[in-house]
Parts: sequence; C-alpha cells; structure tokens
Amino acid sequence: MRPRRFAAQGPLKGRIRVPGDKSISHRSIMLGALAVGETRVTGLLEGEDVLSTAAAMRAMGATIERQANGDWLVAGVGVGGLLQPNGALDMGNSGTSTRLLMGLVASHPITACFVGDASLSKRPMGRVIDPLSQVGALFTAYPGGRLPLIVEGAATPVPLTYRLPVASAQVKSAVLLAGLNTPGITTVIEPVPTRDHSERMLRGFGADLSVELDSDGARVIRLVGEAELKPQTITVPGDPSSAAFFAVAALIVPGSDLVIENVGLNPTRAALFDVLRQMGGSIEELDRRDVGGEPVADLRVRASTLTGIDVDPAVVPSMVDEFPVLFVAAAHAQGRTITRGLEELRVKESDRITVMRVALEQAGARVQETEDGLIIDGTGGEGLRGANNHPVATHLDHRIAMSLAVAGLASAAGVEVDDTRPIATSFPVFEQLIATATGQ
Ligand code: S3P
Repeated sequence: MRPRRFAAQGPLKGRIRVPGDKSISHRSIMLGALAVGETRVTGLLEGEDVLSTAAAMRAMGATIERQANGDWLVAGVGVGGLLQPNGALDMGNSGTSTRLLMGLVASHPITACFVGDASLSKRPMGRVIDPLSQVGALFTAYPGGRLPLIVEGAATPVPLTYRLPVASAQVKSAVLLAGLNTPGITTVIEPVPTRDHSERMLRGFGADLSVELDSDGARVIRLVGEAELKPQTITVPGDPSSAAFFAVAALIVPGSDLVIENVGLNPTRAALFDVLRQMGGSIEELDRRDVGGEPVADLRVRASTLTGIDVDPAVVPSMVDEFPVLFVAAAHAQGRTITRGLEELRVKESDRITVMRVALEQAGARVQETEDGLIIDGTGGEGLRGANNHPVATHLDHRIAMSLAVAGLASAAGVEVDDTRPIATSFPVFEQLIATATGQ
C-alpha cells in the first residue's frame, strides 16, 4: 500500500497534457499484433493495463518494442497466427485486456490461462464466456465465471450473431475480435451504443466492417471474418477519462484556470464534459481537430459554481468510467444531483457506487445510495471537510483513488487515500501533473 494525503495546494493553472487513451492503446497493440508487418504507435498510454496487453501479445508471438523517441513498434503475426503462450497470461488489474484477449484466443487453436489481481479476480467473465462459447471456445473458469480461467480456442470457429444483453464495449469488442479469425460474417447487435474505438480501428486496419441502424434504432455491426489486417501508423489521442479528473479539479478548486491539451472527444466517451457544462461548469473547447480518426480538442476549464442536476441515464454508457469523479463534482454543487442506471458501476474495478458513497461520506459529503446510483446533496461550492485522520479505502481501484485525490485538493483538512499504487494502471503521471498544475 502507498498511502498519500491530498490537500489544498491552491488553484490549478497553466497547461497540462494527459497521456494516451487507454481503450485506444489496448486496441492499437492488439490489432498491430494481428496485422502483417509493422505498426507504429505514437502516444501510447504506458500504464500497467496496456503493458499487460503488450506482454500477453508478446507471449503469443508478436514483437512489441518501445523506441527511444517514445513511439512503440508492433510487428504482427497476422490474423490466425497467434502462438500458444508458454505460461499464464497475467492481466493484472485490467478487465479490458482480459475480455478482449479472451475474444482473440477464442478463435485461434491455442489454449491460454488468464490470471489477475484480487480486484480483477472478482469481476464477472460470464458476459464474454457466453458468446465466445457459441463461437466454439471451451472455458474452465473459477466458480461464478471468474479468473483464473482457461480458454481453449476453437479450431473451427463459428460466426455468431449476438445481441448484447448489457451495454458493454468490452463484450462487443470480444465478439468482434473473435470474428477476425472466423470464416463468414460475425454480427453484433448493440441496442445501446457504447464506445466505438474497436469499430473505428478495425476499419482503419482494413477489416471489412459495416454499421447500420435497424428498425428499432439498434446498431448492427457486421465484420467479415478471416480478415487480413494491414499495419498502420497510429496517433493515440489523450484520454478523456484521465482529463476528467483535472476538469473536475479545476472546476471545484477556487481560482483555477487550466488548459488540458489533446483530449479525445469521441461522442461515445465525452458525455462527462456535457454534464459538467449542464451543471454550470465553464469548459471551453479550443482548437477542435482530428487525431488518428478521433475528434480532439484542448479544454480550457475555469473554476465555476456548479448546480446539481438529475443526470439523464441515457448518457451512462458514454461516461461510464467518469461517475466517481462526477460524484465529487456533485458533492461541491449547489443542491441535489441524482444519478440512476449505474448498475454496471458495481462490477468495475470495485463496486463504485458503494465505495464512492462510503469514501465521500467519510470526507464529509451528504450522500444516499440507491440500487443503481447515488443521490448527492452538495455543499454549494465549499470544499468538503476532508478525511484526514482515517484513510479512505480505494479497493485497488485507480479511479476511486484519483477521485478522492481531487476531493482532497478542494477540501479543508485534506483527504488521505489508503493506496495510490493502482493509479499507475491508467494514469502513471497523475501525481506529477497535480504538482505541475498547482505550481509545486
Ligand atoms: C472499456 C469499456 C468499458 C470501460 C473500460 C474500458 C473498453 O467497460 O469501463 O474502462 O476499452 O472497451 P464496459 O464496456 O464493460 O462497460
């Protein structure tokens, strides 16, 4: 455990640049490893989760190297060319690595054993085991469909038509990735849209993928199997989920005026910024542009008086990782914020509804927990009292640790976070950037 107390350090000012998008980084390594030839990735997130993906793809035959200038080169084995890994694949804390790689292995004639840390070993894998079993893969999982688990990929995979029972980009991507080495057309029907990085990048690598809306508005994604992927040069935009912590910090710490550069604003990811604006937050987009096929802008965020709102549950999939930090913003708003439809938060790196309720209460916020969300009565702009004497428990969850750090920056007495180590899974330079923005 590496505890740290986060306390008021004055306004956040100047310019910072957040690291590369985690979702896009995972996918660039995976697809690069399946292309024939050399893919170059600029701006890859060098967080532990992405490094777990890279280690696994190396164990299955790809060559993946960091260049002196920070670019990454991935020499792929070609779709169908994944090799039998020698030992277990250690997924660390990363649900994305696990679920997407289970999809890849499912349609290759290899066997892989997936293991992970205590948090990942509690998370449900049944949601990918179900469709991938229909592709023909065999699974032996720990009771409850958990890690450790063994996947025996199908030698003759069967193309699937699968309607997602849960709004999950990870499940969608697992099925599509299995479809890459499957003859025929794999179809995923997505009633509620989730992040579309897999679709964008599969197309970018030359896969034959189409998206149509059916009569009830569901997205129908079709991928032609036995694809031949062509190597790409990829520039990864900054991660909006990382920018989120600095956006909220700048809104709630009085006197802040911060520019966060190079933030990915793919509409399937960026709803937090709209919700914060709806609450009265001053977030201005500067220099909107395109980076690697994704919309990007610099965000200028100024300290603002926020007002509580009833958050529309329809936006949940496009800000599913941002609720912990939205709760922190809500705890500083005037009036009540109501969130609903968040049942998926209970199966993330921790149960983010209960864990945030407990931690925010400890820091002095007024919070009620419901089955599928939190109701928060804000302070009206004051910092929270803080939780200096008793560290808040973060349960191996990077986003809980960073959210409470942000609360600490605005608090009277500081917030002690029990363990900052998990932050390195997605945002290794988080603490460094706090120091930069606060001029320490
Ligand atoms: C991710 C999808 C989301 C998100 C996770 C990354 C991805 O999970 O929470 O951090 O890269 O596909 P679900 O799709 O399971 O909601």
